[in-house]
Amino acid sequence: MSLRLEQLWEAGPGHGRLTLWVRNLGDAPLRPRTLCYASMTRLSDDARIEGGRLLRRAGSHVEVEAPEGLEVAPAGAWRLVLVGLTHAPLNRTQGAMAAWVETPDGPFEAAIGDLGGPEPVPLPARVAEAWTGPALLPWPAEAEIDPGPPVRLHAARDEDPRPHADVAALHRRLYPDAPAPLSLAPAPGSRAVRTRGDAKLAAGGYVLEFGDEILLRHGGSEGLRHGLVALAQMAHGARADRALGFPRAGRIADAPRFAWRGVHLDVARNMRTAAEVARLADVMAWQRMNRLHWHLTDDEGWRLESPAFPALAEIGGRRGRGLPIAPQFADGPGGQEGRYTVAEARGLVAHAAAVGVEMVPEIDAPGHATALLAAVPGLRDPDETPGLWRSVQGYADNALNPALPRTYEVLETLLGELADLFPSEVLHLGGDEVPDGAWSGSPAARALAERDGLDGTTGLQGRFTERVRGIVEGLGRRMGGWDECAEGGLAPGVVLFAWQTEETVERLVAQGHDVVATPGQRLYLDMVDRPGWDAAGTSWAGPVTARDTYGYDPGTPEGTGRVLGVQACLWGEHLATMDRLRAMAHPRLSAAAEVAWTPPSAKSWPRFARLAPLMPRL
Ligand code: ACM
Repeated sequence: MSLRLEQLWEAGPGHGRLTLWVRNLGDAPLRPRTLCYASMTRLSDDARIEGGRLLRRAGSHVEVEAPEGLEVAPAGAWRLVLVGLTHAPLNRTQGAMAAWVETPDGPFEAAIGDLGGPEPVPLPARVAEAWTGPALLPWPAEAEIDPGPPVRLHAARDEDPRPHADVAALHRRLYPDAPAPLSLAPAPGSRAVRTRGDAKLAAGGYVLEFGDEILLRHGGSEGLRHGLVALAQMAHGARADRALGFPRAGRIADAPRFAWRGVHLDVARNMRTAAEVARLADVMAWQRMNRLHWHLTDDEGWRLESPAFPALAEIGGRRGRGLPIAPQFADGPGGQEGRYTVAEARGLVAHAAAVGVEMVPEIDAPGHATALLAAVPGLRDPDETPGLWRSVQGYADNALNPALPRTYEVLETLLGELADLFPSEVLHLGGDEVPDGAWSGSPAARALAERDGLDGTTGLQGRFTERVRGIVEGLGRRMGGWDECAEGGLAPGVVLFAWQTEETVERLVAQGHDVVATPGQRLYLDMVDRPGWDAAGTSWAGPVTARDTYGYDPGTPEGTGRVLGVQACLWGEHLATMDRLRAMAHPRLSAAAEVAWTPPSAKSWPRFARLAPLMPRL
């Protein structure tokens, strides 16, 4: 049975209407019972459907029943019109991402056409940028250099070979086909690199002096690695592209602008293999980024094995027809399966640490918890009226209940496991997007709010944050959380990840918080990177062009708090494949690296645009 889903959106009341045609491209009649599809453009509670009857909504998953006795002849189509959406789609990828038809003979998946819609906006003409200096990204704080021809480099005699070997190995993993920029042994014409610790330099800082030999002074092992990576980048770039020379003479003095130079990776919505995560750590290290925020759990998945709760990754690591978690996004009827063993996670932590990247795990709570609630019993108030509230992603009743002792018992166990696996200072507990009205139907939550004078959902979430912060601090760590953790003015000591707007960063610093700046409008790499219907991706904060990302400066907001750094986020809903992920990540991930490292006065868009294509791909 060969099927294809074609789709069209037209503007109108209720955020417009979607027309779906399930076209039968086979030779036999199609006898559909239901159409199942996944879309982030969701149906509103009062949606009307012509040509079918709504049976179920779960996140992005929708099931529509066919009219009794429907038969679609070869070349014919089943047409459905859906009126009443939660928001209007903004591009060709915001319709159905996967679809199948359930029939008496089993499910048949449909190939998916783009969502049709308004006329696309043409792309701007490409501008070739001129730059003939060395290939160094992020650009250093200070550079006065005289460009010369490409060179090979080797570790000077008597050098400890290990740091050189580590950077040579990183380069080989990232560019397996390229000539090695750094070697441990001299070769004809190669230049020696001598390294020396210098207590006057900042941790992470380094100075390069170019002459017949290259002297690398550094403020410790981190600065040494940064200096060697900078040398390897320039030596690699000069041989990959002759127009980019290697410094013949001169000096580079460098240190990171921000301590937190992060990339966030959502593996709950779409799984990434351990090898793909390891490569992200390598790609980050090459651009001197140092925090990999690993979003391990969400409504759609729980990816890390828990020794105490084996059902978590068993149930939460699998989506599919008839399973507790329905297929989502581009899954199709087969769903998807993926989880990391404890040993794999340990291996990744070690791999990342060896290249200077700290893995920071996230368990998203109290919201975004459908997978946890499906796998671990006893986390719901048995007297709660179900279905009174629903998340913006379309999940009903998806938040852990702050009034139940079991909520904290389970989290304490899970956080203990996390602390055992991850040496990071910060353990991230989510805190984002708890639905309005959450727990309003729970007598236990209402009684707690009344007893302690807590103000509805916000007050109850504040209580949850305080309890969980105590658990995290009891483990000797700091709690991280998305900016909603501070709603109601709470969350002292929590590292806040300000995602909603640039102003959120300023407001939270003014309130005295330590903040990692990750505003969607600049640093969400799943946002469309161009305007118009031809774009692909999410768009609530978009478009976010590479230039928008590059131009971001969190500044030095006034207040008693601090900007610890910046972080690019790779949310996964729209990134079903690594090809899609790469298309969105590059070059904006490199732009984020330069925002995190380079002082604004040393930034240059033409230089960045010329050098970014040389950076390794995920
Ligand atoms: C978020 O984007 N919900 C943190």
